[in-house]
Amino acid sequence: MSDYAVAIAEALDLSVEETDIMRYASMMHDIGKIGVPDSILDKDGALTTEERKIMQRHTIIGGKLFATSKFPMVKSAGEIALTHHEKYDGTGYPRGLKGKNIPLNGRIVTIADWFDALVSKRSYKKAWSFEEAVKDIEERSGTFFDPDIIKVFLCIKPTLKKLLRANQSIESAIA
Ligand SMILES: [Fe+2]
Repeated sequence: MSDYAVAIAEALDLSVEETDIMRYASMMHDIGKIGVPDSILDKDGALTTEERKIMQRHTIIGGKLFATSKFPMVKSAGEIALTHHEKYDGTGYPRGLKGKNIPLNGRIVTIADWFDALVSKRSYKKAWSFEEAVKDIEERSGTFFDPDIIKVFLCIKPTLKKLLRANQSIESAIA
């Protein structure tokens, strides 16, 4: 997931420092899941409304873990953990932030995380093809995702495809 977030950050012309921060901070986006019971994390099939609420708390837990740090990388990790499920149209969680009120690093990671989830195999779904995943993301421009970032995302399709192929090779080598 971090590879995709970094590729988007680079394409957005973020500085080398900011891109480096993105690389490491984005790796911890789901760290708050340490506070979610395994029975929910490992559940096969759909979550109940109550279980979904508990799962969604991983954003708040992750945000709190890093909230007081003065270090830019750790601060960014907290911001990403807190905001990577917010949606551009305000329908995300935990705070229902809208548009550019969602920090840029959160707006980038939400796209990278969605893309990674689509192209990955899960117990409840097959891995989508690169083309299917890109089409789905393009269709959610302006609703789930920042349309300005999606424009950039679509410009770097060859880079994203290469990264996906590289990640798939690594995964099949260790399987
Ligand atoms: Fe998450």
